Amino acid sequence: MSRSAHPAGPRHADAMTEGHYTAPPADLNALDEKVWARTVTRNEDGAVTVGGIEVTRLAEEFGTPAYFLDESDFRARCRAWADAFGRDADVFYAGKAFLSRAVVRWLKDEGLNLDVCSGGELTTALDAGMPAERIAFHGNNKTVAEIERAITVGVGRIVLDSFQEIARVAHIAQALGKRQRVQIRVTVGVEAHTHEFIATAHEDQKFGIALAGGQAAEAVRRALTLDGLELIGIHSHIGSQIFDMAGFEVSARRVVQLLAEVRDEHGIELPEIDLGGGLGIAYTSEDDPREPHEIAKALGDIVTRECEAAGLATPRISVEPGRAIVGPTAFTLYEVGTIKPLEGLRTYVSVDGGMSDNIRTALYDAEYSVALVSRTSDAEPMLVRVVGKHCESGDIVVKDAFLPSDLAPGDLIAVPATGAYCRSMASNYNHALRPPVVAVRDGEARVIVRRETEEDLLRLDVG
Ligand code: LLP
Repeated sequence: MSRSAHPAGPRHADAMTEGHYTAPPADLNALDEKVWARTVTRNEDGAVTVGGIEVTRLAEEFGTPAYFLDESDFRARCRAWADAFGRDADVFYAGKAFLSRAVVRWLKDEGLNLDVCSGGELTTALDAGMPAERIAFHGNNKTVAEIERAITVGVGRIVLDSFQEIARVAHIAQALGKRQRVQIRVTVGVEAHTHEFIATAHEDQKFGIALAGGQAAEAVRRALTLDGLELIGIHSHIGSQIFDMAGFEVSARRVVQLLAEVRDEHGIELPEIDLGGGLGIAYTSEDDPREPHEIAKALGDIVTRECEAAGLATPRISVEPGRAIVGPTAFTLYEVGTIKPLEGLRTYVSVDGGMSDNIRTALYDAEYSVALVSRTSDAEPMLVRVVGKHCESGDIVVKDAFLPSDLAPGDLIAVPATGAYCRSMASNYNHALRPPVVAVRDGEARVIVRRETEEDLLRLDVG
């Protein structure tokens, strides 16, 4: 996670010891385009709009808390990734970041493929008409039922994550009279510079098969002997919210080394490599993410160079961005409730949601930005912590930020860059009703995932 620690004056001495906020921005009414979806702007009245619609109107119509997703931004980002990687590569959107049937249709329209990691995601994808051959099935512990279904519907690839799974998928495919296209997920031993819980390429964790000690080479050996499997390539995903391309370069280099070893031992060149997702986005003005074309060029160059050095034909590359596509396209809109100034510390601003709609702050110490969006204000900045309404002191949405000191109950505030891993990780803690996702485009807003109701809660509670 990114960190920024700048002194904000002696009055905030206590806050400084545990917080990591920047000095107040010069203009609290300004919206940094780095963190907001592309069509977000302020109109002459000072209200923030998305897709041409004022947030005040959206709040009236759809209530708060709610996620508002800028559909044209989402589609533009899909196109940017598809164009950057071109015809010789494949972009798989990682559905775990956020998936709904509308999203699947947008992906299909824009020519992207889809990575799913559960039966539920697979159902959503198929129901919305994603062709099975454009789906990759992931997971470290796919159930037999999930594997049977994935093979039966004909997913384009299953990414194998363990020795047991190599045997299991081969067995099931054979029993179904099929030969399943597979990749083997390897851990390349890279220490990704991100939070421990979202780093996945070091060896001491649950995903993949280590390149170290010849394990991945052994996995390839086994996969090649099994009739139910068609081994098409090697997969590596090094973690999430990564800005530094160095980790991807090491990963690409090590995967290509494995391809060369496979060629030397078995006389075959595996045709594909997948370098996973994990590209970071801007949650605050401090973050500087790479553009898809820079990422595509960096990865393409390294793979081409390494393959030339090893005398291999360049394999087809695929990538699996989730956050980098959907993350920046949505914000969460909250209504301000109680405001509690703590003398000498900061002001606690409570909103009508919290860790049930955004667990990332509590779970990863993630940083977010926040702005007053229902009006402008010329009041002095005040240091705030935006907290939810849950019975837990760790229920923090934005740890340290500045909002105008005339903030009042009933104001609307919005947290940008909540498109990824917020609705998809939402919970019913305290029997909260999970918020809706509303897609906004060209002056029209429509619910793509509706708000949960108390009837929904009671329907699951069968007494
Ligand atoms: N491919 C594989 C195999 C993955 O495991 C993941 C994410 C992705 C692609 C997409 O990564 P992205 O581009 O979205 O970073 N809940 C955490 C992130 C967990 C990511 C899990 N795997 C968070 O909120 O930061």
